[in-house]
Amino acid sequence: MAFTTEQRYRAYADWSAEYIEKIKKNTALSPWRTHFHIETPHGLLNDPNGFSYFNGKFTLFYQYFPFGAAHGLKSWVHTESKDLVHFKQTGTVIYPDTPLDSHGAYSGSAMQFGDKLFLFYTGNVRDENWVRHPYQIGALMDQKGNIEKLNKILIEQPDDVTDHFRDPQIFNYQGQYYAIVGGQNLNKKGIIKLYKAHNNDYQQWDYVNDLDFANDNTAYMMECPNLVFVDSKPVLIYCPQGLDKSVLDYQNIYPNMFKIGDNLDVEQAKLVNPTPLQQLDYGFECYATQAFNAPDGRALCISWLALPDMEYPTDKYDYQGCLSLVKQLAIQNGKLYQYPVEDIVNLRTSKEIFAERQHTNNIYELALNFAPNIRHEMVLMADKNGNGLTIIVDTTKGEIIVDRSNCGEKFAEKFGTVRSCQIEKQATTARIFIDRSVFEIFINGGEKVFSGRVFPNAEQTGIAIKQGNPTGYFYQL
Ligand code: FRU
Repeated sequence: MAFTTEQRYRAYADWSAEYIEKIKKNTALSPWRTHFHIETPHGLLNDPNGFSYFNGKFTLFYQYFPFGAAHGLKSWVHTESKDLVHFKQTGTVIYPDTPLDSHGAYSGSAMQFGDKLFLFYTGNVRDENWVRHPYQIGALMDQKGNIEKLNKILIEQPDDVTDHFRDPQIFNYQGQYYAIVGGQNLNKKGIIKLYKAHNNDYQQWDYVNDLDFANDNTAYMMECPNLVFVDSKPVLIYCPQGLDKSVLDYQNIYPNMFKIGDNLDVEQAKLVNPTPLQQLDYGFECYATQAFNAPDGRALCISWLALPDMEYPTDKYDYQGCLSLVKQLAIQNGKLYQYPVEDIVNLRTSKEIFAERQHTNNIYELALNFAPNIRHEMVLMADKNGNGLTIIVDTTKGEIIVDRSNCGEKFAEKFGTVRSCQIEKQATTARIFIDRSVFEIFINGGEKVFSGRVFPNAEQTGIAIKQGNPTGYFYQL
């Protein structure tokens, strides 16, 4: 169903219980429901929000439009986890129900202060002329999950940005709290603004400057900026919408990118000596990645496995979007690695030698080795003709190719159906997670990652090896 503006912004209370029951039943009919990735019972999920540690648990929220597969009036759904593998969804906690967030409780971050979790987010407001007013606002969550909105603007829209000014991320640098906010300047270029908490009070923010990160100034908007410290290096992860492909080529409608700095000069608002821009994920779906430094020292992140302004085959089942696995970040030899948290092994229920097979339930993990000087080609979610998700690990050329063109229902074809990246010409490993309609592929311990969605048909359940000899294990999850 195509949503009208009226439907997208209709008050939550004005949707009938019958309608919600109807779409919930429809969603449950989908053959592509995930087993171990977070998705919604109905409606659209987008960005991960407020990823943090609070009250002895990991806390994570997501952007939610409950009434169908559309981007409308957004709220925050709360989830919690002890192990970062199993998440419990407790329900919607921030509704777009005040004059400061009337048209959407947009993305943001979280940080514990005292015995409360401070949620820092963008209130999206449209006035009677449908002019957008982005307010950086806050709420406190107590240990029982009760929310108290602060009901005041913490950061006003500055004079030098358009109405695209959102997604505050709070972070702690050497005991001082800072925040970055993504935006668009009056020349319609994407920028990131740095703020400092006055006397470390999260309700008072002093503007420092626009962050200097050797911005190439080709993007028109920076969505969801995050600064996280990985092995003591600052890593800036963000979504430069409209980035010129001459700066860095990418095929997805919008990219999720990062730069690593030598250090962060907070006085000068400068990411010192940043690397060139790099792609966070080489796959088809990965956006709005949110990272934070956990109290146990880990740098953790999670991504939205869908993209803005797209249609997905699940739309007809009245839902869209899921979150990635939680990924731990590390830097080795100047390279950013992303790999699933250690406890992910708790999902395993059995271990077998990897081999071709005609049937799986499309819920499994593979831990594979690819010998050097061979072109290895295998097909997951393969039907009896060997059509499915093709993965080529060519250790002769030093190339990984992921091809979804023959995997079930077609979608997003205009953005290409094949993704690839270069690797060293040497023995290579891959850890691959398959979850009915999700794949996450971690090459060489997370040196390169490919994430995406596929919507296989009922016959696409096998594993075929077309060339080469990948060896390793198949884990039922
Ligand atoms: C990114 C984004 C954010 C915004 C949110 C609204 O996907 O557009 O910039 O806060 O989604 O749902």
